[in-house]
Amino acid sequence: MGSYRERVLPRITNVACGIKANEPMRRRVCEGLAGDVIEIGFGSGLNVPFYPATITRVAAVEPADTAWRLADKRLVATTVPVQRSGLDGQSLPFADDSYDAALSTWTLCTIPDVDVALQELRRVLKPGGTLHFVEHGLAPDERVRRWQHRFNPVQKRVFGGCHLNRPIVDLLTTAGFSITEVDVFYEKNAPKFVAAQSLGIAVSP
Ligand SMILES: C[S@@+](CC[C@H](N)C(=O)[O-])C[C@H]1O[C@@H](n2cnc3c(N)ncnc32)[C@H](O)[C@@H]1O
Repeated sequence: MGSYRERVLPRITNVACGIKANEPMRRRVCEGLAGDVIEIGFGSGLNVPFYPATITRVAAVEPADTAWRLADKRLVATTVPVQRSGLDGQSLPFADDSYDAALSTWTLCTIPDVDVALQELRRVLKPGGTLHFVEHGLAPDERVRRWQHRFNPVQKRVFGGCHLNRPIVDLLTTAGFSITEVDVFYEKNAPKFVAAQSLGIAVSP
């Protein structure tokens, strides 16, 4: 991993994703998580304060060492056991059917082969296991989509491979998940091309 992605980007992400405006979405997406949970793209642990007490333990998957170090104060403050357990959502070092639930927040945009990552999540989730997600992606409106396609190459270069235009719900259903809850909306006070959020729960068959 290059030093920009390893050292600089995790600090930018820690500040950009750590804004107060994201907290209600983090609270909502973490609601109902229980048992053994895997979080892909754990980042600097910004979801940790929102983990419910019903979680038994969290396996954190995160490639950037700097992000993991930035999580330290949040890990000290929580009673939920969290262990860094993998580096790449595309190749999870876990047995089949081993997790009750998974969490992904603003990560499916960045993983290079998102289809492979979703297959890996399906493999490690128990049948009926839930993926709780909030992700930005392809906007509902054609006019906004055009800007997303236009800005995508720059976004990818500056933000470590982050795509503006991934169709989150389609990706989940194509991977075989059933969506039981989803809310698609534009986050307030943000440019629409980065603000199209999908927040919900997908169930592994
Ligand atoms: C925009 S950040 C979101 C971080 C965190 N989920 C949050 O909500 O603050 C995307 C995260 O995905 C991580 N990431 C990038 N490639 C990954 C991969 N192949 N597998 C797992 N995580 C990855 C990045 O290092 C980064 O921490």
